[in-house]
Order: sequence, then structure tokens, then C-alpha cells
Amino acid sequence: MTFPRQRPRRLRRTPALRALVRETDLAPRHLIAPLFVKEGIPEPVPISSMPGQLQHTLESLRKEAAEIASRGVSAFMLFGVPERKDFEGSEAWNPGGIAQRALRVLRDDLGNDHVLIADLCLDEYTDHGHCGVLDEEGHVDNDATLERYVRIAVAQAEAGAHMVGPSGMMDGQVGAIREALDAAGFERVGIMAYAAKFASAFYGPFREAAECAPRFGDRAGYQMDPPNADEAIREIRADIDQGADVVMVKPALPYLDVLRRAKDETRFPMAAYNVSGEYAMLKAAALNGWLDERKAVLEVLTSIRRAGADLVLTYHARDAAEWLTA
Ligand code: PBG
Repeated sequence: MTFPRQRPRRLRRTPALRALVRETDLAPRHLIAPLFVKEGIPEPVPISSMPGQLQHTLESLRKEAAEIASRGVSAFMLFGVPERKDFEGSEAWNPGGIAQRALRVLRDDLGNDHVLIADLCLDEYTDHGHCGVLDEEGHVDNDATLERYVRIAVAQAEAGAHMVGPSGMMDGQVGAIREALDAAGFERVGIMAYAAKFASAFYGPFREAAECAPRFGDRAGYQMDPPNADEAIREIRADIDQGADVVMVKPALPYLDVLRRAKDETRFPMAAYNVSGEYAMLKAAALNGWLDERKAVLEVLTSIRRAGADLVLTYHARDAAEWLTA
């Protein structure tokens, strides 16, 4: 009988040995917490398909952000849900609109010690629920939409966003926004580009949270087709060329291969969005007692980091930060 010389188990024997050779770090500083703020509600409203998440009032938003920040998470992605929607989505660029008001109060509270990112899209603001303005045939008109996106970017920058996060998948959106920000004197405001955003079933719960399910059709005419990875790399390269500061792959778990390739091929700062449906799956299993929530969440977030994400947007941010520092 010959015994093995290589014994990988030697380095697995104790927690200290395992920590010594661990390849991937997960810490609160890697996490970005998405938050929803809704106009005109007296109390926060629970989101039923995302247990533990709320549509916030301005007041509860401030408390939640402070609580998350106290656990070491330093960045937030903010979504506004307006009281009034219209065909164009004009509340999105209203300086007094709910997202801009929320950015101002958070910027006052948190200053420059934290990073405020504003989701930049129209679907929460249009009465039809699409991410842009429609042409006569009901298709999203790319260039007419860009004209609206640049107004939103400037309104968000004026309200104190450190970065804007264009998420509508219009062609040329990053370049148009970069140019408009620079022209308005906001060359210091960054762009976290939702660069490879797939037309995914995993956004379901978000559409309850942000009240933005399309009233007809779907988003397959502008978001990416899930089978396409080469195209995702082209989208990511295009956004880098247009001036993106961070590029994102979304969702995370079904697209870890895309994330890995994008990191290997670009070495650019990469974010991954662990989306609402990914959160809901884990929460549902945990609430049924079918999974150990803490272990499963930390395993998932670590796997997204291992696949190449520098940053992970996740609704688990608050809990995960607590577990990671406990
Ligand atoms: C669009 C947007 C969406 C998400 C983030 N930004 C929804 C969509 O494209 O339908 C989804 C995020 C999630 O599911 O957690 N503004």
C-alpha cells in the first residue's frame, strides 16, 4: 500500500490553518446595500416577496442607512418610488423628486464617509413601467430615452450622489451621461454602469418593491439575452470605453461565468448584483427551515467574490455585515 504524499487535508485541520490559506476575502467593505424610498407613505411598507426589506419613508431610510453603515458597509444604491408616474417618467429628474430628496438627506447625514450611488432608470417613474420613453409602436426609443437619462444624471449629481448607476441598457447611455455630467461641472461624479444586465426572471420581487412591472410586454428588447456571454463582454468593453468607472454584471449567481470572464479579460473594477429573486430564494428556504440562512448567505456572497466581483450589491448586506464582524 502506498500512502499519498500530497495531503491537502493537512491545511484543513483547524480553523486557524484554514484561515491561513484562505484565498478569497469577504468583508463589509465589499458590500453595497440597495435601499428603496417611497414618496407619500406615513410608515415604511414591508415588501412581501423580499422578507426583511422595506419601502422606506425618508425618516426610516435615514435610520436604516445609519444602522447599516454602523456595521461597516460604506455604500448604498438608492431607488426612488414616486407617488406620481407619467408617460415620460418626469419625476425622475425633478430636483424635488423623491430620489433627489433622499439623496440630499443621506448626503447630509453621511457626508463623504460613505458612497451614495443613485440608480438611474425610468421604469419606477413611467406609467407603463418600461425603462425608457416609447415610440408610436410601443418600443423603447433609445435616443429619446438618452435625452431623459442625462437630465436624471445631472439632477442626481446636484442632489449629492457620488456615483450614478445607469440600469436601463440603452445603447450609448454611459457616454451620454459622462458627457452631460462633465458639461454640468460634475466630472468628479462617477458611473457604476449596469453593463451586462440580463433580461432575467430573478427581478420579479424587485418589481413589487419598486412598483415597476411593465404594463405590457417585457424588457427583452433592451436587456441582454441570457444565453449570451461573448456579447456581455462586448457590452462591458463598450461601457469601459464610454467612461464607466465600475462595471456590473447582473444578476450574479446565474452569471458567475460572465463575471469571471469579464474580470480576466478587463481587470477593471467589477460589481455583481445579487438581485431580488436571488435574495427571495434564500429567504424562502431559510424561513421554511430548509437552509441555514447565515451559512448559505455567506457562501453565496463569497462565491460571487471568488468569481471576480470586487463589490457585491446585496439585500443581505445588513445581516451579512453583522455576521462577518460578530
Ligand atoms: C431597473 C432595475 C431593475 C433592477 C435594478 N434596476 C429591474 C428591472 O430591470 O426590471 C432589479 C434589481 C433586483 O431585482 O434586485 N431600474
